[in-house]
Amino acid sequence: MENLETIRAKIEKLREEIMYHNYRYYALDSPVISDQEYDALFRELQELEKKYPQFVTPDSPTQKVGFPPLEEFKPFEHRIPMLSLENAFTEEEVRNFDLRVKKQLGEAPYSYVVEPKMDGVAVEVTYENGILVGAGTRGDGRVGEDVTPNVKTIRSVPLKLVAFEGAPPPPRLIDIRGEVYMEKEDFEKLNKEQERRGLQTFANPRNAAAGSLRQLDSSVTASRPLKVFFYGVGYVEGFSFHSHWEALDTLRKWGLPVNSLRKLCRDIKEAIEYYHYLEALRSELPYEIDGVVIKVNELEHQRKLGEKTRSPRWAIAFKFSAHKAVTRVIDIKVQVGRTGILTPVAELEPVNVGGVIVRHATLHNYDEVMRKDVRIGDYVIVQRAGDVIPEIVEVIKDKRTGNEETFIMPSKCPSCGSNVVKLPEEVAYRCINQKCPARIKGAIIHFASRSAMDIEGLGEKTVNLLVDKGLVKSIPDIYALKKEDLLKLPGFAELSAKNLINAIEKSKRTTLSRFIYALGIPYVGEYTAGVLAEHFGSLDKIMNASKDELLQIPGVGEKVAEAVIAFFKNPENRQMIEKLLESGFIISQDTRDVESSVADFWQGKTVVFTGALDRFSREEAASIVKGLGARVSNSVSKKTDVVVVGKNPGSKYRKALDLGITIMNEEDFLKMIKR
Ligand code: IVH
Repeated sequence: MENLETIRAKIEKLREEIMYHNYRYYALDSPVISDQEYDALFRELQELEKKYPQFVTPDSPTQKVGFPPLEEFKPFEHRIPMLSLENAFTEEEVRNFDLRVKKQLGEAPYSYVVEPKMDGVAVEVTYENGILVGAGTRGDGRVGEDVTPNVKTIRSVPLKLVAFEGAPPPPRLIDIRGEVYMEKEDFEKLNKEQERRGLQTFANPRNAAAGSLRQLDSSVTASRPLKVFFYGVGYVEGFSFHSHWEALDTLRKWGLPVNSLRKLCRDIKEAIEYYHYLEALRSELPYEIDGVVIKVNELEHQRKLGEKTRSPRWAIAFKFSAHKAVTRVIDIKVQVGRTGILTPVAELEPVNVGGVIVRHATLHNYDEVMRKDVRIGDYVIVQRAGDVIPEIVEVIKDKRTGNEETFIMPSKCPSCGSNVVKLPEEVAYRCINQKCPARIKGAIIHFASRSAMDIEGLGEKTVNLLVDKGLVKSIPDIYALKKEDLLKLPGFAELSAKNLINAIEKSKRTTLSRFIYALGIPYVGEYTAGVLAEHFGSLDKIMNASKDELLQIPGVGEKVAEAVIAFFKNPENRQMIEKLLESGFIISQDTRDVESSVADFWQGKTVVFTGALDRFSREEAASIVKGLGARVSNSVSKKTDVVVVGKNPGSKYRKALDLGITIMNEEDFLKMIKR
């Protein structure tokens, strides 16, 4: 048996290695190993920590998940108030700011640091002796909300600061400020997923970041792609910086992500030039910025300049002219989605917003129309933030003539005329007709989409044609299509028709999780489909699962369980599945998410049980792991891979310890069979 001290040292070394690679990845944006190599290191550490839980420390890079949900947020007091910034919209205002600075500093030379102004949510994080101990939102500047568990789930926020590149050791106590944000692409993915699950979408990346951060259940935050850039320091004890530039550089060397687009400028002219440079770069950036922040670099000067009530005199936000424009709402139409949800969309008089002609703006849902009080005929300010779908910022009420028309949610579906209902606990209105053409189209588009059946060539346009021409009335009809049918459609020729038929045929070979996802069960997104596929392993088992069985799966709550049950209870859905299977589907076990796959973990492993388990009899537990591909043995030997230890374990436990075999208690075991 390896000496415990050696193991501890090994764990420590692994952690250091991982922290170094985190630093390369998140702080420098320049990794030196592949993702696979990183994952291997991470897994090695996880395994060791599992075997030797006595060596687990709260600041280990593995400790990024798993905090119990909160009832409410506790207050988080800022030791130094978090101020906001004065805004400037013109170069003149910026030059005036510089004149004020110059005047107050007398003859002393000074420089500026110019940084992108991130459009996200402000946070403050506290490190004590380099360990992350707290995090709070800005709140009113003096007191915010304690979001420590949430911030701990953000991957780029180190749990422990390490001094790289000859940086000084982290101080006794330091409050560091930054902006939590979501990248544009991640935001769009999240919204699509929300939409798919029939959940509320976010208006823009900033709202998505804020909503994701302010979650009482930090596992929700963990599932959202949040990032952070740190841009400043609040209270510090046991250390002092000389300049802002130096502070940012030191933060980065401690492993904190700092935006690399910061620039040290000699004077205001250079700062303004850099503003224009970033403005030109803006649309290319993966995240949204709404301007730059210009800060006096020398901290001594900052102290001398001081602050006004709400903002410092040493900094100013120079905002980009937002991509906004005024236009008129010609009409408010309603779109019907796959799940029957009705989404109001404003039709606008075409207007150029930041170089793009905008004709529509989503209004998300009826509540939003009411909240913004948008009426047909209104003049409105529309905004196009980055590449995001245009939205109506506000109504110009002064321009109302009294002839504007209030929008009323139709009581009949605009696509099929069926009744529209609103479920009491939902914001959304839905068409109740399962056969509504708009819903059928949506369902087929979803079914054929890339993450589902991945049928190339079967996009929105073709689906609309197929449904409108009556060639396809439900999903299984796709599989009865012939080349001749397609040739009758506008835009199809021999080759394109053949290609589509081939793509349809090819899609019959698929994985269970894709198939489940493709069905379009409300609340069952890609991730949940994967979880169900992994857990049950066969379509039949999923279709016949009880609510209790479903609820036992981590990540499956009431809503999902009920939606799954309701979906498979519906005879029409069962019939559809039957028809699909009859057309020759070959559904294989998932290979998509190999790493997290339960079966993958247990496949071929030799498992020994010792002691009494609370939740299972020995036989039950054995049959579960056998079902997952493991062998069960009665005695521990070098060949044993896992020993599951219950209450009052016998000598097998000792032996497993001696041989250094992976040991799981009942909790671990439960997690490993459910994951
Ligand atoms: S410095 C006293 N730097 O903008 C200085 N703020 O309107 C305060 N923000 O609440 C902030 N990017 O959340 C600073 N590079 C940056 C920033 C930034 C975004 C946000 C910050 C603050 C708001 C002020």
